[in-house]
Amino acid sequence: MNKARLNALLKKRHDLIPGAAHTYSKGDDQFPAIAPAAIVRGKGAYVWGSDGKKYLDWCMGLRSVSLGHVHPAINTAITRQMKEGTNFGRPHPIEYEFADRLIRLLPWVEMVKFAKSGSAVTTAAVKLARAYTGRSIVASCINHPFFSYDDWFIGTTPADSGIPSESKTLTKTFKYNDLESLQKLFVHHPKDIACVIMEVITTEKPDPKFLRGAQALCKKYGALLILDEMITGFRWNLRGAASVYGLKPDLVTYGKGIANGYSVAVLGGRKDVLELGGIRSRKPRVFLLSATHGAETISLAAALATIDIVEKQKIPAQLWKYGAHLQKGLEQAISRHGLEKHVRVIGFAPNLSLSITDALGTPYPVLRTIFLQEVIKRGILFQGYFAISAAHKKPEIEKTVRVFDDALASFRTVIDDGEKKYRSHLIGEPCKPVFRKFN
Ligand SMILES: Cc1ncc(COP(=O)(O)O)c(C=O)c1O
Repeated sequence: MNKARLNALLKKRHDLIPGAAHTYSKGDDQFPAIAPAAIVRGKGAYVWGSDGKKYLDWCMGLRSVSLGHVHPAINTAITRQMKEGTNFGRPHPIEYEFADRLIRLLPWVEMVKFAKSGSAVTTAAVKLARAYTGRSIVASCINHPFFSYDDWFIGTTPADSGIPSESKTLTKTFKYNDLESLQKLFVHHPKDIACVIMEVITTEKPDPKFLRGAQALCKKYGALLILDEMITGFRWNLRGAASVYGLKPDLVTYGKGIANGYSVAVLGGRKDVLELGGIRSRKPRVFLLSATHGAETISLAAALATIDIVEKQKIPAQLWKYGAHLQKGLEQAISRHGLEKHVRVIGFAPNLSLSITDALGTPYPVLRTIFLQEVIKRGILFQGYFAISAAHKKPEIEKTVRVFDDALASFRTVIDDGEKKYRSHLIGEPCKPVFRKFN
C-alpha cells in the first residue's frame, strides 16, 4: 500500500472501526502515543510499523505467533493446502487429521471441536459444562485476566454494559492459589456450580495443593474442571501446563501457540461430555460451535505444521532457555539502575511481563506509559509482556537487554525528577485499563 493511502486510512481509522482495532489490547489507548499506529509486515521476531521503522517485536500477535512471523515451513504448508481449497460443503480430511493428532498427543483430550477464537471455545466449554451437569453457575478465577468476550466472563469486569444482570449473577469468582475461596463457593452452591474455569499458571507460582485441590473439589461436588491453556498450551511444554502439574481437566481450551498466528482455537476433553454436541447422543443436544469458517483448511494446515515444528524442534525447551536468559539480563539491568521498587520482572520464562509501579508497588499508569515509550522509542515494540517465540534467540535477547538497560537509565532520571514532573516526560496520554466502565 502506498504511503499516501496508508496515512489517509490511519487518519480516519476511528471512523471506520470502533476502537480502530479488532482486539481492545491492540488499541491506541493501550500504547504510548509514540507507538506505530499499525504494523504493515513482519519477519521472524521483527515487524515494520506504519511509521516506516523496524521494531524487534515482543507482542507477536498477542502471543499467537509462537514460531515467528512469515515462517517458511508454515508458508509451505498453507500454500500446499491453498491449492486444494479453503472451505467445502462437507468436512475436509484435514479436520480429522488435526483432531487425531491432538487426541494422540494430549492424554486428557478424547474428542475435539475447532473454532476461530479463544472466546468461542471457552464459552463452548462453559455451555457444555452447563448442559452436562444441568447446573448454571460458573466459578471463574478472578486473578486471570481474560477468558472470553462473552457475557459469562465480561460480566465479571467493569466493562459490563449490555450484559443483563441475571446473567452476571451466574458467574461467581474465586482467587488463584486460595483453595478456601473456591471451597466457600462450593459450600454456598453445592448443587449449582457447573464448572470451574482457570488458567493453570499465569504470573504466580501455583501451589500444587491448590491445583490438585481444585480438581478434587470439582470431583466431590460434581462440577467440571475447565483449564484454559490458551497461553500455556504448546509453550509450557508440548502438552501444556496441565501435563507439567499432573492435572487431568474435564475440558481444556487451546488457541495461541497452536497455529503460528493463523486462526485456530480448540476445545477438547472428555468424550462423554463432548458427545453432547454430536449427533449420536440420546441426551438433549448441545448446539456446539457450528460456524461457516470453523474448520477452514488453511489455518488447520498451519496448525498441523506448527505442532510438528514445536515437537520436532523442542520449541518449549528453547522458550524456557532464552526466556531465562532474558529474565536474568533484565533483572540485572533493573538492579544496576536501582529501580527494583519500580520495575519488576514477573511470570515465568515462556511468558514474562514487567510490572511498573510507584515505590510502594501500586500500578502507576503514567510511569508505565513512560517506560513503554522509552522502550518503543528505541526500536522495540513492547506492551508490558514478552511473547517469546522460536524466533527470539541470543541476538534478540541481547538486543532487548541492551535497549532496556538504556531505557531504564532514562526512566531513572524520570523517577529522580520527582512525581510532580512525571507527566512532563510523557508524550500523549497514559495507557488505560482495557476493562473500564467509561472511556
Ligand atoms: C487465557 C485466555 N483465554 C482466552 C482468550 C480469548 O482468546 P481470543 O482472543 O482468541 O478470543 C485469551 C486471549 O487473550 C486468553 O489469553
